[in-house]
Amino acid sequence: MVDLAAALRERIEARAPKIALVLGSGLGALVDAVEDPIRIPYADLPGMPRSAVSGHAGEVVAGRVAGVEIVILSGRIHYYEAGDPAAMRPALEALKAIGVEILILTNAAGSVNPAIRPGEVMLIEDHIAFSGRNPLIGEASDARFVGMTTAYDETLRAAMLRAAERAGEGLHRGVYMWFSGPSFETPAEIRMARVLGADAVGMSTVPETILARFLGLRVVAASVVTNMGAGITGAELSHAETKEVAPQGGARLARILAQALPDLAG
Ligand code: HPA
Repeated sequence: MVDLAAALRERIEARAPKIALVLGSGLGALVDAVEDPIRIPYADLPGMPRSAVSGHAGEVVAGRVAGVEIVILSGRIHYYEAGDPAAMRPALEALKAIGVEILILTNAAGSVNPAIRPGEVMLIEDHIAFSGRNPLIGEASDARFVGMTTAYDETLRAAMLRAAERAGEGLHRGVYMWFSGPSFETPAEIRMARVLGADAVGMSTVPETILARFLGLRVVAASVVTNMGAGITGAELSHAETKEVAPQGGARLARILAQALPDLAG
């Protein structure tokens, strides 16, 4: 853990990024917008959690987007890979240790809201941790009792909505429900998700948001919708579809983020 922060510090501390961006499945193209990049394969970073999921590159990219220094984690490990909801903790702790203050989380998701379609982007306003897992189980201090009333920072959300308007891109708002995966949901689970108040479903982001709030990072998060939830169209879901559709919404999200970053950086 200490090693990871030290290794990151050595390679990118001079850039002093205050904003980190975690990329979801198939969203690797967001790194194309980075100017003057420093690229570090996760394999070169001791203790960096590595995902074995296809569509997740596995590198840190530090550089400027819209004049703002950011550090991108291109590839994230998921709960379903090893059954550890805190799998991303070392990475988030290292980001905190090098001075990051704001965490932008992205993911690919299924929509359970008929008004939110594949290729579109949804700003996460709130979440439901339906997996029942929590990355802070086992944490010993009172700091584990993290308030989640405004987990998704209101000021940062407002900045994203203004940025989308400037970019001329639609940006839905909604609730993200975390299923453990890796199997997709059943049609009955998707109907349940809708009844319980979800707009999108996915297999990531929620444990990272909880960990980030625990660490005192401000969080803003967005889903790129790659498909309607199981049973809505009748078509079978697949990871191949996620990877194929994600770049379309990813390009939209990249345009919104480019507009938002100067504002987020304050
Ligand atoms: N469900 C869960 N995760 C997903 C989906 C989905 O329909 N699409 C992309 N990631």
